Amino acid sequence: MAGKVGRPLVVGNWKMNGLASSVKELRGVVAWLQGPGKDCRCELMICPPATLLVGFADRAKKSALLLGGQDCHVMGVGAHTGDISARMLKDAGAGAVIVGHSERRIDHGEDNALVRAKAAGAHKAGLVSIICIGESLAEHKAGRTLRVVSAQLKASLPARSNARNTVIAYEPVWAIGSGLTPTLAQVAGVHGHIRMRLRALLGEGAGALVRILYGGSVNPKNAAGLMAVVDVNGALVGGSSLKARDFTKIAGVYCS
Ligand code: PGA
Repeated sequence: MAGKVGRPLVVGNWKMNGLASSVKELRGVVAWLQGPGKDCRCELMICPPATLLVGFADRAKKSALLLGGQDCHVMGVGAHTGDISARMLKDAGAGAVIVGHSERRIDHGEDNALVRAKAAGAHKAGLVSIICIGESLAEHKAGRTLRVVSAQLKASLPARSNARNTVIAYEPVWAIGSGLTPTLAQVAGVHGHIRMRLRALLGEGAGALVRILYGGSVNPKNAAGLMAVVDVNGALVGGSSLKARDFTKIAGVYCS
């Protein structure tokens, strides 16, 4: 089946950052989308902490800015103190949710089976799942990157994943928040491999169309190079997404 990967996607993952006063950054991004970024080829999404989601959704509702959550529970509703379901995120204004971020995998011991269940929960609630995979520094040094991402991908992807409900984010753990990035050739190699595995797992049609984001120390200086790599269909941005100026510069790579 011939097809084209959808518009590139640039996602800001605010992690555990942001207070009510951070709405000024949201305003900056919305203003950019309505002005200089109006004709950009990419979609733009912010995943703020859950505490800010409703307020941000209200402010962004007349703009093209998309919103997402950073994690969700497997279930839609129930006795799970402190957790938030995909259904609740959707109700609050999210269109997507990040699952399996390495900080969740490491800090909360989340494994591939749980990540898959969360992604399935997201799909059931009508959210796009942004499924994160990526190797540790030790795995990178041992030359095990492709094996690790293959195994994570296979075990984290729920049945019936497709290009409409699923986005993959390749984030080498050692590149997150470190200022380090793989070489462009390394990024090309891993993304090409993920594309090949997606085709095998989901079939030619869906596998060719699922967007694959690169994440890990993306900043306004390195974004153009990284986003130009074949099979890099956007970015998942942490630190550089907190300031509207930096985040929109990254997205600006897709403006002509
Ligand atoms: P970073 O984080 O851009 O700060 O490296 C990326 C991420 O963890 O999603």
